[in-house]
Amino acid sequence: MRFGPLELNSNLFLSPLAGYTNLPFRLVVRELGGVGLCTTDLVNARSLIEKREKAFKLIETRPADAPLAVQLFGSVPEEMRDAALVVESRGAVSVDINMGCPVKKVVKIGGGSAMMTELDKTAALVRGMVNAVKIPVTAKMRLGWDDDNLTAPDLARALGDAGVAAIFVHGRTREQGFGGTVNLAGIRKVVEAVKHIPVIGNGDIVTPQAAKKMLEETGCAGVSIGRGAFYDPWIFKRTVHLLQTGELQPEENFTERVRVMRRHLALMIEVFGEELGCRMFRKVAPWYAKRFGPCHEFNKKVVQLQSQEQFAEILENYRRWRWQFLDDHGELQPRYQPAPMVASFMREPDSIPREHIPVPKGPVEVW
Ligand SMILES: Cc1cc2nc3c(=O)[nH]c(=O)nc-3n(C[C@H](O)[C@H](O)[C@H](O)COP(=O)(O)O)c2cc1C
Repeated sequence: MRFGPLELNSNLFLSPLAGYTNLPFRLVVRELGGVGLCTTDLVNARSLIEKREKAFKLIETRPADAPLAVQLFGSVPEEMRDAALVVESRGAVSVDINMGCPVKKVVKIGGGSAMMTELDKTAALVRGMVNAVKIPVTAKMRLGWDDDNLTAPDLARALGDAGVAAIFVHGRTREQGFGGTVNLAGIRKVVEAVKHIPVIGNGDIVTPQAAKKMLEETGCAGVSIGRGAFYDPWIFKRTVHLLQTGELQPEENFTERVRVMRRHLALMIEVFGEELGCRMFRKVAPWYAKRFGPCHEFNKKVVQLQSQEQFAEILENYRRWRWQFLDDHGELQPRYQPAPMVASFMREPDSIPREHIPVPKGPVEVW
């Protein structure tokens, strides 16, 4: 997998999820293997050139967190160019531009998905960044503003001409928000529009089979996984295995999930300190617990987490409580097993939708 001069070990990417894909989570995912490139949460270009502490915390990294892309948002060409230079000077291997975010705060300033409505202006901004830095510049977009304005193929072509090294495309429109089904045919149209640069498909990949289906049906060069990596941080490793051997590995067991969850908390504390790290982990731990089987006793306690010591105690109490659901071999009894995960584009039409990482609710106009 190549992005211009950049060679990556796999064609699987971690999608930016603001508030989630921070340094500790990226390190966890990398330790488990299979991911080719991780991207930071979106960073305000102006905050970065004004050297705001919050912006620098978002791009904090370390050698084990490589290769890393930094994602910028903004709409002022000079600011985006200068922020790209900062990103390059900090050792990122590529810089990504957010053209998909539907949130008001971002769209209001002409950034995020608003960039999909003004092709020439956006292409000019991108050209300025490409000319300023040596590292590859990539763009992450949706299919368009709404169903009547599916601009992604035209925009992708214009950005290809402006010099971007790759395009990430989430197979939904801005209007769809996070609802409905990811449109594989829509992603395919973007793939067909740009022949000389890789297009990376994205949206609702929660299993290795879903990654394979997206690759096969859209012809995309790689796939990017966001929320699916929170359900299953092993998804990259398991997808590589499926793609290479055709064999689907079983999901990780409880012991391994707990090991990785503890490692994740330890890294959160290392990076953010015990108080903030524990507070932030309150919304992370329940994602691990989703595959534990019955877990309300765990979730009830972990949302009050304050220290690493307390975490050990919560875990020990939960283990004891969980015994009642195990069989003679110490495995979860089949009736308590969590339901299999299914991507929206692989779901039976009348099946129940899966749970989400909290996403903005209501019509996108009010986000
Ligand atoms: C909580 C949350 C935060 C997100 N933050 C970003 C972001 O900072 N930048 C971005 O380009 N996309 C962001 N996204 C969109 C994801 O990168 C991704 O395109 C989308 O969630 C679909 O992929 P998935 O189903 O694999 O999660 C975010 C999505 C969620 C749910």
